[in-house]
Amino acid sequence: MAGPLPSQLLPDGATCDAAGRLSVAGCDLVELAGRFGTPLIVYDEDHLRERCREASAVFGDGAVVYAAKAFLCRAMARLVAEEGLHLDVATGGELHVALTAGFPPERLVLHGNNKSFDELRAAVDAGVGRIVVDSFDELDLLDALAAERGCRPAVLLRVTPGVEAHTHVYLATGRDDSKFGFTVSTGAAAEAVARARAADSVELVGIHAHIGSQVFRLDSFRRAVAVVAGFANPLGLAELSVGGGLGVAYVTGEEAPTISAWGESVLEAAAEAGVTARLSVEPGRAIVASAAIALYTVGTVKVLPGIRTYVATDGGMSDNPRPVLYGSGYEAFLPRAATAERPRAVSVVGKHCESGDVLVADGWVPEDLAVGDILGIPVAGAYGYSMASNYNKVPRPAVVFVRNGDARPVIRRETFEDLLRLDL
Ligand code: LLP
Repeated sequence: MAGPLPSQLLPDGATCDAAGRLSVAGCDLVELAGRFGTPLIVYDEDHLRERCREASAVFGDGAVVYAAKAFLCRAMARLVAEEGLHLDVATGGELHVALTAGFPPERLVLHGNNKSFDELRAAVDAGVGRIVVDSFDELDLLDALAAERGCRPAVLLRVTPGVEAHTHVYLATGRDDSKFGFTVSTGAAAEAVARARAADSVELVGIHAHIGSQVFRLDSFRRAVAVVAGFANPLGLAELSVGGGLGVAYVTGEEAPTISAWGESVLEAAAEAGVTARLSVEPGRAIVASAAIALYTVGTVKVLPGIRTYVATDGGMSDNPRPVLYGSGYEAFLPRAATAERPRAVSVVGKHCESGDVLVADGWVPEDLAVGDILGIPVAGAYGYSMASNYNKVPRPAVVFVRNGDARPVIRRETFEDLLRLDL
């Protein structure tokens, strides 16, 4: 038996009428599902903007780099640009979307542990502000690029500080055993600094570290800042990026620090560690996750007495692979009865051809959930659409931004024709 959905899992603009029917930014969710079809991902635009502003307020103008991998489309890139943030793009594809959205290139930061020569060249030609260098092989590529283009891009070196981040092993990136960055403990990081300093091909402006994602514990960030500062301070470089990774609450009972609390903690740790470099951060999830609700239509309800009830939706692991990949938990609820008790234990599954296709393994829903209902999954704004696939040739969902009673489609639903566009 679970109580009603905790309202803190909903976007800021969520309101319920007397009957418990949910609207976001003045848009009725069941009505949106009818208008745009399902699966549908609905983002509260003001919530997104508010999180950008919260981050800028605590860290300062120009110190916040939104991590595009969490959710990117051109509307999102424009929103981030309007809010004055910088943008972390980790591939040529993300770079392309950002540039075609008109994102100011000097506010772009290019990431990636295996950037190709073409990606580096595209970034330099576009005039990206920073490249975060991940390996000696990449320094070789930048030498070659400088020889070809006569460029000298401003770079940060990504280091792995050897910090355990208390998160899922796939999401931990700060430990020594990582594919990312130059390891501090082996001396590789110091060697990279010496090489970059001596090189004509790059201008070394700073150090970067990112310990992992979905991290709840502020002490993990504080420890990382202290360790990275221990390495970076003596170098006297102008910039220090401590990456992203702030976790968010997905289910009842979870509590995550706010962006402001994270910021105060990181800044305090930096001050204590004697950091004088300009500090920046790269939040992704904390900006977008709880801004969105995913809407599905219930197609079948299979009751297995004494075993389990399966509620099958018209989406699944193709639009949100996180439960399958990381065992991530989510809540389910009915937007037509968002304040209702949820006494019925169910597993919310998708329409894909495998048993692992689970969206909510242990969900609770109102007793009267029925075929045809619109089912909502909150906190669906990060790493869902961005990791979506066409498995089983299921078209990817539509995405809408809602604001002041208006719903603006920002990504149209894929069609069966789209499924053929690469097929020769
Ligand atoms: N900076 C760097 C260098 C990163 O690699 C990442 C995330 C971020 C910033 C943003 O981290 P965030 O603030 O969003 O935690 N697919 C996984 C998350 C992978 C994160 C990858 N890197 C998930 O669904 O949980």
